[in-house]
Amino acid sequence: MSRIAYVNGEYVEHAKAGVHIEDRGYQFADGVYEVCEVWQGKLVDGPRHLDRLERSLRELRIDMPMSRAALTFVMKEVIRRNLVRHGLVYMQVTRGVARRDHFFPLQPVAPSLVITSKSTNPRAGDKQAETGIAVVSHPENRWPRVDIKTVGLLPNVLAKQHARDQGAKEAWYVDANGYVTEGGSTNAWIVTKDGVLVTRPAESGILKGITRAVVLDLVAREGIRFEERAFSLEEAFEAREAFVTAASTLVMPVVQLDGRPIGNGHPGTIATRLRQEFHTASHLEEIR
Ligand code: PDD
Repeated sequence: MSRIAYVNGEYVEHAKAGVHIEDRGYQFADGVYEVCEVWQGKLVDGPRHLDRLERSLRELRIDMPMSRAALTFVMKEVIRRNLVRHGLVYMQVTRGVARRDHFFPLQPVAPSLVITSKSTNPRAGDKQAETGIAVVSHPENRWPRVDIKTVGLLPNVLAKQHARDQGAKEAWYVDANGYVTEGGSTNAWIVTKDGVLVTRPAESGILKGITRAVVLDLVAREGIRFEERAFSLEEAFEAREAFVTAASTLVMPVVQLDGRPIGNGHPGTIATRLRQEFHTASHLEEIR
C-alpha cells in the first residue's frame, strides 16, 4: 500500500506529494507545525495540539487554514488512509504561495496545509526507554521566540546532529546563564538528588510542550514532589534522574549527560512510572 498525504485540499500519493517552489514555508520557513501521537488507534491530545497551533498561527498572523473540526477530520482521515495504529501525524501550515518577497503578500493568499502520517513501532520506543538515552549539552543559539512552533528548525537540526555525532540521541540547550532550556525536539526534566522533579517554566526559553502539560497533570494527580523552575547544567550532572518529553518520544529517560552517568546510569523510577502512566492522563480520541 502506498502512503497518502493531504496537500491543500487533496489526498495524494506521498511519493508524489509536493508544494509550490514559492511556498513561503519552503523559502522563508514562514510557517508552523504540530506533531501528534497516534496510540492504539487513537489520536492523542488533539485539542491541546490544536490550541497550540492556533496560538502559533496567531503570533505569526497566519489564518487557520480551516476550522478545528475540519482539521481534526483531515488528520484522522490521513491516519485512516495510511492504516496507522501506532505512529505520528504531522501537520504543517505556512503563509502560502506568493512571489518571493520578505513582506507578507499584499494580496491575501490562502495558507498552505500539509498533513502526513506514519507508523512507528511502539515496542522500539519502549525498548529504548528500558535503557534510556544519552544527551549532550549545546549552547543556546536559537531565536527568542521558541514558544512558536515554527518550521524554522535549522539550529535544532544542527544541535541534534552534533548530538548524534557524539553518539547521543538529543542535545540539551544551555543558555548564557548556564541553565538548561530544552532539548532540540523535546522538553527537559530532572529529579534532583533530593528527589524533587524539576522542569523549566514555559514562560520563556522553551516550547510549551503538550507532553509536558500532560505529565504535569499526572505529577499533580500522583502527588509527586515538583518545582517549576530553571535548573543548571551543574545541577543536572548531580541529578538522581533525568528525562525528556515530546509527542514523538513520550517520557524518555536520560541516563548520560556529556558522557557522565546521571544517577546510577539507569532509567529512574519516576521517569519510568510517568512513561507507563502517560496515556491515563492524555486525551484519547477514536479515529474511526
Ligand atoms: N517536537 N521542544 C521542542 C523544541 C520541540 O520541537 C518539541 C516537539 C517539544 C515537545 O513538545 P510536545 O510535547 O508538544 O511534542 C519541546 C516535535 C515532536 C518534533 O519536532 O518532531
